[in-house]
Amino acid sequence: TLQFSNRHLVLPGMVDIHVHFRGWELSYKETLEGGAAAALAGGVVAVGDMPNTRPHIRTAELYRRRMEEGSRLPVVYRLHMGVPRDLAELDAARPPTVKVYPEDVAEFGWGHVEALMRRCAGLGCAVVFHCEDPSLFRDGERPPEAELACVEKVRRLAVDTGARVHLTHVSLPQTVDAARGWATVDVTPHHLLLDRENCRLGGLCLVNPRLREPRQRRELLARLAAGLVDMYATDHAPHALEEKLSAAPPPGICSLEVALPLLLSLWRRGVIALEDVVRLYSYRPARFLGVNADPTAGYFTVVRLEEFAVRGEEFAGTCRHTPFEGFKAFGRVVATAVGGRVYFRDGEVEELC
Ligand code: DOR
Ligand code: ZN
Ligand code: ZN
Repeated sequence: TLQFSNRHLVLPGMVDIHVHFRGWELSYKETLEGGAAAALAGGVVAVGDMPNTRPHIRTAELYRRRMEEGSRLPVVYRLHMGVPRDLAELDAARPPTVKVYPEDVAEFGWGHVEALMRRCAGLGCAVVFHCEDPSLFRDGERPPEAELACVEKVRRLAVDTGARVHLTHVSLPQTVDAARGWATVDVTPHHLLLDRENCRLGGLCLVNPRLREPRQRRELLARLAAGLVDMYATDHAPHALEEKLSAAPPPGICSLEVALPLLLSLWRRGVIALEDVVRLYSYRPARFLGVNADPTAGYFTVVRLEEFAVRGEEFAGTCRHTPFEGFKAFGRVVATAVGGRVYFRDGEVEELC
C-alpha cells in the first residue's frame, strides 16, 4: 500500500480521532467546513470531533443533529458524545464513543463517571478520557500530578466496570507506562515536539494538558519510538487569534494542516519507521473510529518529500496561528482523496472531481 517515487509518497488516508470543529455559537473560532478544509490540507480523511461545543453535546437530540451536519462534510465525520446528566440519553443516542472532561468530573463527580462507564460497558461504547483530576488544579495551574492521579483513578474504574477506555492527549511518559494492559493512548504533536523551554510564544503555547518539561517530552518521544503509543492525534483546538494573544488566552493549539508533516519529520530523523507513521495516524485510529482509510477504497494522501518551514498563514482552516510557526517539517501534503474524490492544495483546498 506504500508507493515511492523520487519526490512523492503515497500513504493511506490519515485519521484524527481528536479534533474540535466548533461551529454553532463558537463559529467565530472555527466552522465544520473550515475544520474539514484544515483536515484535507493535512492529508486527513476522517475525524473524531469533540462534544465541548456550545451548547455541549450531551443529549441524543444534539448528537443526532450534529452527526447530520457532519455527514455533509467532504471528510468522514465521527463524533464523541459528551457526558449526559441522564445516562438514558446514551441508550437513545447509541454513540460508539463518549468523551469525559475534567469539567464533567468536577460537575457530576466520579460516581457519575463510574455509572457512565458501567453503562458504556453494557452498550459497547468506548470511554475517551481527557484525564486530569480537577481536584488537583491549583490557582490556574494544572500539574502533572493531576494527570497521574486521574489515570490511577480511571484504571480502578475500568477494572471494576469493564469499560473500554482510551486516554487521549497523554502528556507524560508515566501515563503511557501506566496505561499498559487496560487502556489505549494517543499523543499530540505538541506534547511530542514542544515543551516549556522551546515554546516561547506565550498564549499560543497554552494548551491543556500543559506543555511539560524538556526531559518529560523527550521521554514521551522515547515511548513513541519504542512502539508503546497506540495513536497520534492533534487535539486541533481553534481559538480566535485575538483570544490567544489576550491577557487570558484560552487553551488550544491548531495543527491539523501540519500534523502529518511533523510526524514524517520524526521518520526523516530516524526516530520512527514509516510503518509507525501509518499505524499511529491511519490504521489504529481508523479501527478505533470504525472508518475506512484504505487506499484501495480511495482513501489516500500524497506528500511531496521536501523539508519546509511551518507557516500559519498557509493553513486552510479558520485558525491560522500556531506555536509550530517556523518549525521544520517534512513532506508537504499535495493531495488527499476521500472515497475516491480527490482534493488537492493549490493555494486553497479545491475539489478536482
Ligand atoms: O487545550 C485544550 N483545548 N484542551 C481541552 O481539553 C479543550 C480544548 C478546547 O476545546 O479548546
Ligand atoms: Zn482535552
Ligand atoms: Zn480536545
